[in-house]
Amino acid sequence: MIEQIASYCRQLKWGNSIVDNYQSIEAHSHEEFLLRLLEMELLNRELTRKNRCLKQAGFDVMKTFQGYSFDQVAIPASITLDEIKNASFIEKKENLILYGPVGTGKTHMATAVGVAACNRGKKVKFYRTAALVNELIDAKTKGNLSKFLKQLEKADLLICDEWGYIPLDRQGAQLLFQVVAERYEKKSVVITTNLEFGKWNGIFFDEKLTSAIIDRLVHHSHLLIFSGKSYRLEHSKIRQ
Ligand SMILES: Nc1ncnc2c1ncn2[C@@H]1O[C@H](COP(=O)(O)OP(=O)(O)OP(=O)(O)O)[C@@H](O)[C@H]1O
Ligand SMILES: [Mg+2]
Repeated sequence: MIEQIASYCRQLKWGNSIVDNYQSIEAHSHEEFLLRLLEMELLNRELTRKNRCLKQAGFDVMKTFQGYSFDQVAIPASITLDEIKNASFIEKKENLILYGPVGTGKTHMATAVGVAACNRGKKVKFYRTAALVNELIDAKTKGNLSKFLKQLEKADLLICDEWGYIPLDRQGAQLLFQVVAERYEKKSVVITTNLEFGKWNGIFFDEKLTSAIIDRLVHHSHLLIFSGKSYRLEHSKIRQ
């Protein structure tokens, strides 16, 4: 009989979870059993969806806000800590700019925000900016650019880590501009950078492009300023 049930589940595209777990259900009536079974399947689907979302986001290292200290982060009045922690600013198509020196927790926060967004059922894409630009150039060379751009557009949140760490050539800067411009007022962006706006010129090739990028990014952004010493140095094994 169990093979038959498994086969029906496959035909209904319900996967294996029902067959694998139905025996653990305790119920006093048919209705209660059915209720628990459906609840179990719904929970299972939710978990599968979240895991898929986390995998597709492409985080470098998985991090959450658990144990994260906000002591060295200046949060502007325009956004609350809760809106950051639960990534609800995405619903308003707003952006975060995480600015500060090395090792102060920018990538950690950007990742934790991304994980929170996945938990909200949002599509997230995490990239080191240089890698994103390389992929854009690669897609263009191979004639896949519009397909790649469409894929990026689908993400509710695009995280560009290490923004401005590596200078871009004209083509790279233009492609990155295209991505940012496309998302403007439609989808959210989180960037991490240690470069103040005044120095972006040296990175984005020409002045016009730089001001166009800054203008779009900054309009609906919250600027979080990180300070203090590098966590890496402070917690280094060598120091201890
Ligand atoms: N506020 C914090 N609370 C807990 N852990 C932190 C915090 N800030 C940083 N860390 C830890 O310190 C390490 C460095 O942080 P992270 O990589 O986020 O720095 P960063 O600001 O992105 O630096 P960089 O500019 O060099 O990329 C990570 O392992 C991170 O988990
Ligand atoms: Mg970083």
